[in-house]
Amino acid sequence: MREAVFIGIAILLIVVISAGIVDAKSGEELFSEKCSGCHTIGGGDMAGPDLAGVTEKRDKDWLIKIITEPDKLARENDPIMKELINKYGFQMPNLGVTRGEAELIIDFLAQYSERGTPSETSTPAVSPTPKETPQVVAGDPESGRMLFIGEKRFQNDGPPCISCHSVRKAGINGGTLGNDLSDLYSKLGEQGIQGALKSLQFPVMKDVFAGKSLTEKEIADLTAFFKEAEQGKSKPDQYPLSGFAVFVVALVIAGVYYGRVK
Ligand code: HEC
Ligand code: HEC
Repeated sequence: MREAVFIGIAILLIVVISAGIVDAKSGEELFSEKCSGCHTIGGGDMAGPDLAGVTEKRDKDWLIKIITEPDKLARENDPIMKELINKYGFQMPNLGVTRGEAELIIDFLAQYSERGTPSETSTPAVSPTPKETPQVVAGDPESGRMLFIGEKRFQNDGPPCISCHSVRKAGINGGTLGNDLSDLYSKLGEQGIQGALKSLQFPVMKDVFAGKSLTEKEIADLTAFFKEAEQGKSKPDQYPLSGFAVFVVALVIAGVYYGRVK
């Protein structure tokens, strides 16, 4: 018993220490972890705009704002933001990036663009994490639905989405900590969903899915499921929030809370 407590404390220490290391990430690491699911630097538009040269195009305060509080910027009816949202079809999500992190990322963007711009004829710039060739993994919507409601487990043990999200259009009434994802497909599009699920950088989810990232196949299945759900193809059976899901929510919240308190 004593040993178990000791091991527990040791694990906790390791977590605390590695969290400290995580805080000291470079701009490049931050970019590839949080942004590269949707953006390249010189590799062309993906779900979001290509960010090559963005540090020359926009002023720094504006960049900090869009990176740290895109939701607020949109609410303020910022004209540039409005235009971008129209063009790309959805608003960049708030990823919980701090001001300090945003500054590191902006410095990295500035340096990287400089390296890339001098001659247009040189080899085309690449994104820092080489863009894998577009995913050809075919999504299976039924498998995505089962993953969503927890009938099938995630390979890396992430909690089922239903514990925090509903997809009412597919008859799935889940937890309410996260929003209803019925219209996710038209909101984010194929690439947007894949980018979002790859990085999982939404405030609460980030903690819950730490070290439990979804596999490419799982992401493809969920994307296919969201696509079908929106078209109303999924049979609207009822999946009320089950006792199990309530239990998972409680566990997850307790886990996050415990992790924060340390
Ligand atoms: C889920 C996809 C997604 C992620 C992740 C994401 N962005 Fe974006 N970003 C967008 C979209 C879409 C737009 C354009 C619409 C808007 O402005 O909201 C955008 C716009 C921007 C712009 C403005 C570009 C311009 O031409 O002025 C900047 C700068 C930016 N993002 C930086 C970042 C950084 C830095 C990160 C990582 C911390 C990040 N984004 C993560 C989707 C994303
Ligand atoms: C522990 C609760 C929890 C779990 C489990 C969870 N989420 Fe979330 N999710 C949230 C919260 C909280 C937000 C951010 C707040 C919001 O937009 O409602 C969010 C945001 C999102 C967003 C962005 C929504 C938007 O409109 O931009 C997507 C996409 C998403 N979640 C998908 C999923 C998927 C897919 C799963 C299962 C793999 C999942 N979530 C599991 C809590 C959770």
